[in-house]
Amino acid sequence: MKNPLVIAIDGPAGAGKSTVAQLLAKRLGLPYVDSGATYRAAALKVLNDGIAPEDKPSIISAIATAEIQLQPSNSSFRVLLNGVDVTEQIRSPEVTLTAATISRLPEVREKLITLQRTFARFPGVVMEGRDIGTVVFPDASLKIFLTAQPEERARRRLKDERKKGREATLERTAYEIGRRDQLDAERKISPLVAASDAFQIDSTDLTAQEVVERIIVLAREKQLLTESVRQ
Ligand code: DC
Repeated sequence: MKNPLVIAIDGPAGAGKSTVAQLLAKRLGLPYVDSGATYRAAALKVLNDGIAPEDKPSIISAIATAEIQLQPSNSSFRVLLNGVDVTEQIRSPEVTLTAATISRLPEVREKLITLQRTFARFPGVVMEGRDIGTVVFPDASLKIFLTAQPEERARRRLKDERKKGREATLERTAYEIGRRDQLDAERKISPLVAASDAFQIDSTDLTAQEVVERIIVLAREKQLLTESVRQ
């Protein structure tokens, strides 16, 4: 069995990971997986069960028994929680906040990382997250750490929120992004850091397509584009 081509796209919220990872996956004819969706589905389970944010034992046991599935659909995927499609529900601000909290628990990470590792099947996968290149797949074929200036990340996030019909202000969005950066960077387990062998790309002044082209160049240089992926 040949090893799958694993492309890890890590970085902070609003750096453009989802857009870039989806475009790249489509370009290479590989599935796209957003590891954040697994934390969001787990967070939704906690909210649905009405568990208090400080009740760690109940959070851990609720998530331990939850069945989370990602099903490929077009160039993206649907998220199922105990067989129910929760793809849209997991994008609410409440879930976003709860996901940041529960992702600090080692037992939760362990379960979700084990699940994420099952998504790396031949010929390969493009996976986005925070710790894909450092923890989930330390031997990933290609690791990208995508960043952007905080103001630009807040502007992009605001555009997304408005597209979804949500009321938001730039000030509020910038505050929330800063708060999440802090939670993600400060957590003891799997903090948001670039892998030492990751290629850092600052997307502030680049379009998503330009970022994808840069990644393709890197993949070519590393001779990763074999006959099993679209060239
Ligand atoms: O990327 P996102 O906004 O959907 O992620 C939701 C939360 O999940 C975020 O606060 C951090 C956490 N997360 C993580 O800890 N590790 C990952 N690989 C992906 C997401």
